[in-house]
Amino acid sequence: MSRILLGVSGGIAAYKAVEFVRLATKAGHGVRVLMSANASRFIGAATFEGITGAPVLTSEFDPDPTGGTFPGEKRPDHDPISHLEIVGNADCFLVAPASAGTLAKLAGGFADSMLTTGFIACTAPRLVAPAMNDKMYRDPAVVANVETLRSRGVMICEPNSGDLASRGEYGVGRMQEPEELLAVVESALPRPTGSWDGMNVLVSAGGTREPLDAVRFLGNRSSGKMGVALAEEALRRGASVTLVAANVALEVAPGIERVDVETTAQMSDALTERFDATDVLLMAAAPADFTPSGDPASGKLSRDEGSRGLELEPTSDILAGLAARRRESQTLIGFAAEVGDGIERARQKLSRKRVDAIVFNDVSRPEIGFDSAENEVLILDSEGETLVPRASKASVASAVLDRVDQIRSRPSGSPFGPEHFRSH
Ligand code: CTP
Repeated sequence: MSRILLGVSGGIAAYKAVEFVRLATKAGHGVRVLMSANASRFIGAATFEGITGAPVLTSEFDPDPTGGTFPGEKRPDHDPISHLEIVGNADCFLVAPASAGTLAKLAGGFADSMLTTGFIACTAPRLVAPAMNDKMYRDPAVVANVETLRSRGVMICEPNSGDLASRGEYGVGRMQEPEELLAVVESALPRPTGSWDGMNVLVSAGGTREPLDAVRFLGNRSSGKMGVALAEEALRRGASVTLVAANVALEVAPGIERVDVETTAQMSDALTERFDATDVLLMAAAPADFTPSGDPASGKLSRDEGSRGLELEPTSDILAGLAARRRESQTLIGFAAEVGDGIERARQKLSRKRVDAIVFNDVSRPEIGFDSAENEVLILDSEGETLVPRASKASVASAVLDRVDQIRSRPSGSPFGPEHFRSH
């Protein structure tokens, strides 16, 4: 994911910067925080340090104990110049809140703190989120400073209208909400090569539930984390992403169209409806393979009724059904969560389900099993096997999408297109 540098200046909206950092970190970004001296009148550095897991810098003369790196990165073996290194490593620099004083310094090219010096030295996309009283925001000096920054290519996250910090005051000047800021920042982030701009990606995630009665269901332990990571990585690469989520209790990045479903039949309908417009299908969900026969009991089954036995019937295989009507230009990726050594079973699913790749993982290993933060997978396709060693689900998602890029760039296209079926 990306490296976001956040400059926090002195203003009551600094409390919203904490939530921004929490959301950005949760979305998988590495965040470093620079605070102006006045920011610490409103919020403590320890709060940001706790959430980001990295020190906050204020003075341009402060040595950076991490050597200008972002969380999770290896410290260089020399001591680089802090304000150049951290800014050079950032994928974007957001100043939020940007107070009237800080806006003036940024527009005037001042370099009297880590925040202002870093801002001048930054060649990555720069954004500012002004936050102040409406009378201050309408003052001609502030208006001119905002316009100066805009004319220099700095993105302005325009403040909203609403209740202001001072009691009873209302007007323009409320800093954008953290979710809005994260969406703007993510849209400003440079895209990696092999961008998925213009592609429609359909992802399924989570485990379906088949109702037994009004309160009980037949379900499985899939949390949806891998599917959400895939959807967020596809979004980051520029794709239009729809996530069909079965009982997923996770928040997903703004910008992803989310369709919540409960049962395998509902998931099948939601995916089928969108499949024709899809370029890449990532079928990470665990749909139940069986559903109770007949209609579920309308009330709650009593102990006696429940013990009479449960009749099940198979659900439809959604992936195989979609693959049967696929176009050659579409890429279909299935997932096989197996217990123990199921590689051969997973390989059989590659041809049985007529998909371009099967992502195999061993869910009997607790460190990479259901609901864990990490995964280790083997991607099986017509050209062989690719091991993605144990890493965060975000990194594994990135490796899966890299493999999709490779599959799509093969001159012959999919080996499972209609022509393939005709000649075999
Ligand atoms: N799948 C599906 N519809 C189902 C069951 C599974 O589309 N009713 C998809 C899964 O989302 C996954 C792939 O098929 O991408 C493999 O799922 P898995 O449960 O391993 O395969 P099954 O066909 O159910 O095989 P089995 O349970 O016999 O191993």
